[in-house]
Amino acid sequence: MKIKNICCIGAGYVGGPTMAVVAQKCPNIKVTIVDINAARIAAWNDEDLNKLPVFEPGLDEVVKEARGRNLFFSTDIDKAIDEADMIFISVNTPTKTYGKGKGMAADLKYIELCARQIAQVSKTDKIVVEKSTLPVRTASAIKNILENTGNGVNFQILSNPEFLAEGTAVQDLLNPDRVLIGGDTTEAGQKAIQALVDVYANWVPNERILTTNVWSSELSKLTANAFLAQRVSSINAMSELCEKSGADVNEVSKAIGMDSRIGSKFLKASVGFGGSCFQKDILNLVYIAKTYGLTKVADYWEQVIIMNNHQKQRFSDKIVSTLFNTVSGKKITFLGWAFKKDTNDTRESAAIMVADNLLNEQAKVSVYDPKVIEERMYADLDYLNTRTEAKNRELLTVSQDPYEASKDSHAIAVLTEWDEFKTYDWQKIYDNMHKPAFVFDGRGILDVAHLRSIGFECYTIGKG
Ligand code: NAD
Ligand code: UGA
Repeated sequence: MKIKNICCIGAGYVGGPTMAVVAQKCPNIKVTIVDINAARIAAWNDEDLNKLPVFEPGLDEVVKEARGRNLFFSTDIDKAIDEADMIFISVNTPTKTYGKGKGMAADLKYIELCARQIAQVSKTDKIVVEKSTLPVRTASAIKNILENTGNGVNFQILSNPEFLAEGTAVQDLLNPDRVLIGGDTTEAGQKAIQALVDVYANWVPNERILTTNVWSSELSKLTANAFLAQRVSSINAMSELCEKSGADVNEVSKAIGMDSRIGSKFLKASVGFGGSCFQKDILNLVYIAKTYGLTKVADYWEQVIIMNNHQKQRFSDKIVSTLFNTVSGKKITFLGWAFKKDTNDTRESAAIMVADNLLNEQAKVSVYDPKVIEERMYADLDYLNTRTEAKNRELLTVSQDPYEASKDSHAIAVLTEWDEFKTYDWQKIYDNMHKPAFVFDGRGILDVAHLRSIGFECYTIGKG
């Protein structure tokens, strides 16, 4: 079966870049990305490529090449479903905020809505692809909804989790370590798998396209994120020990990373991992383990989250204790709000919790981030519901310029590892600060020797 028409439901951080690359690499396939969020679709269609709703290096070029040729963004979901022979579901699957599994389980209501809409609209056979990250065995729920329409349409369900990381999405999509496709072991299931393999084979070498059963594919996605997050929590745990013992966490990372069994990637100590997925997916994993009665398995993975929360908390505690145990009325400048560099995404960013803790101590926080807009920062804080919206706007200010942001402040805290922070005129920053002037480098990116020579008092994660 040759795929000619793809629909993707969900034009977010995954659906947008992923399908833009599919369209770029498969000019003979029409790709339509749909979303209920009309503003988001309008932004994807904006003539000005700087206004795309997702900032990713290189994404503008991909969109420029394919948009209007075989890549389309639309709010007409029914039409796109009707025309497609393959439908990707790439909607959000956040942690549940209500009812059973609150704070742990994945909220699958958006997934179910998509399945129901597909069931209602479809008149011809379709392959439905889970692109969103889902609890293991979700495909059986989707199948149940799709197969009970009584309209004679046949559906095949595949799992094709996405492994891209934000900030490097385009590179990750063009050159993936692997593409994972899970499907039914039946003949029809294998044909559906092959149809999707053929799409990716347009640019991904065959040996990197891995096919499995549906459950292995669904669970592999949660497992991959759990392992990655666990590495960060492990090195962050060691960073605290380094600070006490006089070891240097960068040297420890390097030393262990040279062991080929351990590997050097994902061993950078930080103020804590953020992002929309690590925490959500591990909580989901913990919940799934608990529902199977596997409490030891659940406890094991939960520690990764506990460690991460501790790391964020201890960073803000360190700021308070270093500033003579009070930050009340003091201006503290945040460099960075995004959860990592090269993205405008702030979901679960460590900056949010660190800011919230400092605002609780009545600090005045001033933020500069090269890509995150002011409204986003306030929305992140308001969402916590710790204080009134007016109070958040009074205590936290946002600047478009790092020098302006740091003027008259008592301390600078680096929350995101944006490259530009390394090359600032730190003498100028120092001159305009209260003394003693402190720097808290939560990302270990600054040249501390240089800063000390200027006169700064410095703290770096993982260094005594
Ligand atoms: P997102 O919130 O950026 O985008 C989801 C989009 O789906 C939103 O624009 C929303 O309006 C739309 N949507 C929701 N319900 C809809 C419906 N019924 N019909 C049409 N549109 C609907 O989310 P995201 O970051 O793209 O993540 C999507 C999924 O991919 C999640 O399951 C996530 O875990 C997974 N994932 C994310 C990343 C990442 O880096 N962000 C990486 C790999 C996997
Ligand atoms: C992560 C995974 O890397 C992707 O494979 C996965 O597809 C994605 O989650 C997802 O499912 O959403 P992402 O969250 O975009 O991607 O970014 P990462 O590069 O993994 O960084 C996550 C967080 O960990 C960031 O806050 C980052 O600063 C932090 N981190 C990462 C560290 O603190 N140290 C490291 O060594 C690596």
